[in-house]
Amino acid sequence: MKQVLVTGAGGYIGSALVPKLLEKGYKVKAVDRYFFGHDKLNSHENLRIIQEDTRRLKPEHFAEVDAVIDLVAISNDSSGELFKKATYEINHISRVHTAVTAKQMGVKRYILSSSCSLYGFQDQDAIVDESSLTNPLTVYAKANEKAELGVLPLADQTFIVTVIRQATAFGYSPRMRFDLAINGMTYGAWENGVIPLMRDGTQWRPFVHVDDTTDVMCLLLEAERSLINGQIFNVGSNENNYQLGELAEEIVSALPKTVKIEWYGDPDHRSYRVNFDKIEQTLNWKAKWSGADGALEVYRKLESGKLTKSEHTITLNWYKDLMKWHQIIKEVEKYGGILDIET
Ligand SMILES: NC(=O)c1ccc[n+]([C@@H]2O[C@H](COP(=O)([O-])OP(=O)(O)OC[C@H]3O[C@@H](n4cnc5c(N)ncnc54)[C@H](O)[C@@H]3O)[C@@H](O)[C@H]2O)c1
Repeated sequence: MKQVLVTGAGGYIGSALVPKLLEKGYKVKAVDRYFFGHDKLNSHENLRIIQEDTRRLKPEHFAEVDAVIDLVAISNDSSGELFKKATYEINHISRVHTAVTAKQMGVKRYILSSSCSLYGFQDQDAIVDESSLTNPLTVYAKANEKAELGVLPLADQTFIVTVIRQATAFGYSPRMRFDLAINGMTYGAWENGVIPLMRDGTQWRPFVHVDDTTDVMCLLLEAERSLINGQIFNVGSNENNYQLGELAEEIVSALPKTVKIEWYGDPDHRSYRVNFDKIEQTLNWKAKWSGADGALEVYRKLESGKLTKSEHTITLNWYKDLMKWHQIIKEVEKYGGILDIET
């Protein structure tokens, strides 16, 4: 039985990926600080939870590991701008350290979870592919690019390295994120019957369902080495390149409720449109989910009461809360507690 070490395993993508790996018969070492809680992964005989900071991973963590899927990150632009130092340390340095240590320990495959945000904003008519010049505009995107540049040269006959540049994800996951565009739009529609949308709706963005991107990760664990070693793949689909106005209209039509679009702001000309031919042709893979399907899935979960917008679901706010409470607790904690203390 092969063993996969997943970093960021308790996150939005990780908590969807880990059950899939277990289902497919892999053993999993699930490494995470578990900032979003310990309740996102169900226990399983083949699952080992490792609560550790990826900046402190040691060679022994990689013992008997066949492959690493490196998801760990401060995972969006706004958090990256606020926590710049940590974002470079975690998203760049720790991931290169993980790849180097994995290789030294005889791990065979390494998958880096990167992002289409590396392309930055482009001309309205441009469609970028893996060979296009990147244009990383934020700390988050720059750290991803540095990580890519750090891990790709490690690829050789003994160590298969693959980078996936994922589109913006959507859909339900145990560690839900409502700070992602489609999920956020769906929440607004469900709660108030309103999708707030920045003018003028012609800006392009690529999307991928969390179920599709985790399928790609599973494919890469078994794919023919010569097809994927040292390669970068955009992960998404040409069909899920949306102009945001068109996307909002699709969501309005898909939901079983009257929903209106409320426009705000000045026209946003920041746009990027991505080509996904390489992954489709190389791996013979095609995304299954459209944005509207994902919106309906999230809507139904909200309707069922199984999903709520807890404070954990907006990444930046949750990190800010954790930092605030850490400071408050440090100031009042004594003898290992607040009201109850160690005896
Ligand atoms: N969600 C998207 O739309 C999207 C799009 C493109 C790329 N990605 C990439 O996919 C990966 C996963 O994203 P996500 O949406 O699941 O994010 P997430 O924030 O839900 O998950 C990240 C996980 O990393 C953990 N973590 C953070 N710092 C850590 C540290 N120092 N040590 C150990 N654990 C730590 C957090 O606790 C969290 O569980 C990231 O690399 C992200 O850049 C995500």
